Amino acid sequence: MSVPRKNDTNLTPRGPVLVTGGAGYIGSHTNRLLRERGVETVVLDNLSTGHKAAVEGAFEQVDLGDRAALDRVLQKYKPTAVVHFAAKTYVGESVENPAIYYRENVFHTWNLLEAMRAHQVGAIVFSSTCATYGNPIEVPMTEAHPQAPISPYGRTKLHMEHMLADYAAAYGIAFAALRYFNAAGAHPKGDIGEVHVPETHLIPLVLQVALEQRREIAIFGDDYPTPDGTCIRDYVHVVDLADAHLRALGLLQAGERDLRVNLGTGTGYSVKEVIDCARRVTGHAIPARVAPRRPGDPPCLVSGGTHARDLLGWVPARAELETIVRDAWAFQRRHPQGYAGHT
Ligand code: UFG
Repeated sequence: MSVPRKNDTNLTPRGPVLVTGGAGYIGSHTNRLLRERGVETVVLDNLSTGHKAAVEGAFEQVDLGDRAALDRVLQKYKPTAVVHFAAKTYVGESVENPAIYYRENVFHTWNLLEAMRAHQVGAIVFSSTCATYGNPIEVPMTEAHPQAPISPYGRTKLHMEHMLADYAAAYGIAFAALRYFNAAGAHPKGDIGEVHVPETHLIPLVLQVALEQRREIAIFGDDYPTPDGTCIRDYVHVVDLADAHLRALGLLQAGERDLRVNLGTGTGYSVKEVIDCARRVTGHAIPARVAPRRPGDPPCLVSGGTHARDLLGWVPARAELETIVRDAWAFQRRHPQGYAGHT
């Protein structure tokens, strides 16, 4: 069968679409974009880490472990596709308590897939991660890079990819595994953005220093084999990520069965470059101090894959680091306490 490509028209997804984890960071941006494109959605989230204030449209507070509740939601909304964000996402926590990661990531995804089979839902776009590759053996990393994750978090995400591929082959549920590099930024309107408790990610932490909620930013190691000694990451704007999900879903609904795609800009920035950028954007001195390396941090993670461009026609529109930091800053200034007080 010939597979549609980026130049084909009519790749706008069809709804209704079930957005699991749609109260979370990337899920809430994707849910908004779907709705802006006129696609009916229903957000399913247990609100364990998500925020009700970030949800627009239909919402069901349901845990993916609750199959009966899941069946009720699928029966009520009759989605034709799923975009699956709901997951645990902390590398460190996954080392300390892998049981939660196997339950919430692997078992809950199995539950979701079984419910999809029972209700004949034919397509799923899945939040995967560059953490499925493990330590880079070459940078930039293409989709062909060996997948050898080094944390339980990365391993659960890889198990989920394998499960999706097996279900696609056996039961015909089309899937896209989108392997994000470092999601960052916020919606340009400044009303939804990144709120994690606890916050561990570099850009929001740096901006908390600019808001004087923290005294300084710790640079985790400055003796890496990189030009300035600090780790390099490929930061990709959350709105660009959302756009890629819509493209992937449209492609699945047009007949593609199996997509595995890196989502990064292809440009890396060091921790020091990120801090310098935040100094320019905020006008704050942002004191920084060098601290020991954080275990498990590879020196450099940059996407080299071309599947996003070749298959999805995706070219990030907000790729500049300054745009990413500016949008994150606009959100954090308006939401210094996260979503507290915002309903
Ligand atoms: N960093 C600091 N100081 C901080 C926080 C982070 O120096 O206070 C550094 C980290 O050491 C790293 C870089 O900033 O070099 C980025 O760190 P983040 O925690 O923001 O992001 P990670 O690259 O660790 O995490 C991302 C995704 C994870 C994914 C991981 C795979 O957010 O979901 O990549 O390595 F698992």
